[in-house]
Amino acid sequence: MSELHNLFLPCPRGLEPALAAEMQALESPTLRTGKEVPSGVPARGTLEDVMRLNLHSRIASRVLLRLGHAPVEQADDVYRLALKMPWERWFAPDQTLRVDVTADHSPLESLHFAALRAKDGLCDRFRMRGMERPDVDREQPDVRVHLHLSATEALLYLDTSGEPLFKRGWRTAHGEAPLKENLAAGLLALSGWTPQAVLFDPLCGAGTLVVEAAQMACNLAPGLGRGFGFERLRGFGAQAWEDIRQAALAARRAAQAPIFAADIDPRMVELTRANAQRAGVEAVVQVKQGDVMDAVPPIQLQPGQAGHLVTNPPYAERIEAKGREAEEFLPRLGDVLKQRFTGWNAALLLADLQADRALRLKPARRHVVYNGPIECRLFTFQLVAGRPPRKTAAGAGAGD
Ligand SMILES: C[S@@+](CC[C@H](N)C(=O)[O-])C[C@H]1O[C@@H](n2cnc3c(N)ncnc32)[C@H](O)[C@@H]1O
Repeated sequence: MSELHNLFLPCPRGLEPALAAEMQALESPTLRTGKEVPSGVPARGTLEDVMRLNLHSRIASRVLLRLGHAPVEQADDVYRLALKMPWERWFAPDQTLRVDVTADHSPLESLHFAALRAKDGLCDRFRMRGMERPDVDREQPDVRVHLHLSATEALLYLDTSGEPLFKRGWRTAHGEAPLKENLAAGLLALSGWTPQAVLFDPLCGAGTLVVEAAQMACNLAPGLGRGFGFERLRGFGAQAWEDIRQAALAARRAAQAPIFAADIDPRMVELTRANAQRAGVEAVVQVKQGDVMDAVPPIQLQPGQAGHLVTNPPYAERIEAKGREAEEFLPRLGDVLKQRFTGWNAALLLADLQADRALRLKPARRHVVYNGPIECRLFTFQLVAGRPPRKTAAGAGAGD
């Protein structure tokens, strides 16, 4: 268990520093967090670190364990690499598998064919040792192998997560345009909210932001309600895993500050309640129906206490149908923030990269983040009393 492995934790673009900070906060003496690269963070760590990262990371999409890499010019290079990897150390030939592939400027013409050659090399490795060839199961594989093709290299990983980590196991149905759970957690980190502060999402949809925050406030590990790929791999000690889970369960604490949510749609209010309940935090999240245009601070802040309004308003095209209302949505929201939320901090995720102009507010920061393939900005604002409304001039540069 003390052997160190090369790891890679992919995450939504824009959240790499927040993921690296989260990894360091685990305070594992054996985990070495590397320098972040676009869409992920490399690390070195033990198999216990792999288990801990899977259980505790809110921002990573997966925890990949690198088995090997080699220069690649053609698909057969992938086959030869896969043939050399010690797959039998990690799983048995009667377990089913699936090979996924990602690429970044790969010279190979067909990624699908490259994945097929990886699978052939893996299967031939078992066959050459007198064993059965593992079967492929795309739906519910026991083992997931991840092939990444860069401009010059093929990298083969074991996916120790199985289902992606943003699937926490608490989501019932989802509303319109829900955030992925790991993006929501990353936005909370970028917003500056901490569990000591009051949180309010007045456009909560299915409640992703508030449920993530409530679990953080209760120090409830995100992975306690789901299983992981490594549970079907060899080498991950069952007792060590049980100890890690028990320690996480024992770390639960009471939330220090309340969390509020609202939505105009009563179905979303119910959905947020149901999700909070399944996530074990229904006592922390107070949800009610309401129009954001009528919103007021849900609580008076105590001296020294911070209040954070964090939300992702509906995209312009989704309010378009309401005609003029769509155009007026952001200016009116800006007025609500300025007039009623003095002393609060606000963070708004918007796909309109210059939405601060429509809000008529000067952002403290504009974080570049991607909601799937959509480039967005998380605008953060400090709603200070007496700050003059912003004119329509261009704001600070992207990503500052
Ligand atoms: C993009 S969704 C939020 C998604 C949410 N973050 C999630 O992860 O599920 C925007 C939400 O704003 C709500 N909404 C639209 N107009 C509103 C208004 N005037 N007041 C309050 N909520 C509103 C919609 O019902 C929708 O649930």
